Amino acid sequence: MSILNKHKILEKNVTLLLVFSFIVVTIGGIVEIAPLFYLENTIEEVEGVRPYSPLELEGRDIYVREGCYVCHSQMIRPMRDETERYGHYSLAAESMYDRPFQWGSKRTGPDLARVGGRYSDAWHVAHLRDPQSVVPESIMPKYAFLSNTPINGEYVADKMSTHKFLGVPYTDEMIESARADFMVQANPDGDWDGLLERYPGAQTRNFDDEPGVSEMDALVAYLQMLGTLVDFSTFTPDASR
Ligand code: HEC
Repeated sequence: MSILNKHKILEKNVTLLLVFSFIVVTIGGIVEIAPLFYLENTIEEVEGVRPYSPLELEGRDIYVREGCYVCHSQMIRPMRDETERYGHYSLAAESMYDRPFQWGSKRTGPDLARVGGRYSDAWHVAHLRDPQSVVPESIMPKYAFLSNTPINGEYVADKMSTHKFLGVPYTDEMIESARADFMVQANPDGDWDGLLERYPGAQTRNFDDEPGVSEMDALVAYLQMLGTLVDFSTFTPDASR
């Protein structure tokens, strides 16, 4: 009984109550947060997930620059209406090399997490140049200027070094050959062996069907790889984690 009587002191003294509440919340907070500091990785590794190829990385940066994320999310939630429309729910590992991540919170347009392979390159190019030409009721803006903007990967190696600094496992070899890999991925006559060894499953072709490498090539290369790295016919979630 005596300890309950002492609790009265706390209940009657606002300052004391505040101090003790603070202590309780601090202990609770530490218990929740501290174990995370000792985990090497909170993301389950999944086979097939790799860092972006230089061309895909540029495409992703164009996606961010143009604010595509304002209208498009990239996260399929594990609910039936979502998985039936968009495919397998998103895994944390699938966006582990996204800095910043593109999950988004607004869906003026559809989720794009698994748009890769859903349409042809030609469809994407026509759609990006003039969305209403393929989807008459679309309210998406036109991005035709991407076709007229050649890019040469001048800064892509620097970008990759920055990503490496932040923890993306780009090797020195990948950074050294960044510029060559950038140019070769969209070159239909190129020698893709090195690129494919460094970035397994990278798609190699002339994405916009025009000579040279443009921002359109990079963006379509990025869109066509979204959600395609993990083979969901063999993937089994590890429920023990
Ligand atoms: C103002 C909002 C808005 C912005 C900004 C926007 N979109 Fe869209 N997007 C839409 C809407 C609405 C649709 C659905 C109609 C259609 O297909 O055009 C769509 C559809 C799409 C589709 C087809 C998806 C599917 O599964 O059918 C792709 C791919 C796409 N957008 C890519 C992009 C890219 C890349 C950008 C940035 C360069 C972008 N969008 C910017 C609104 C937007």
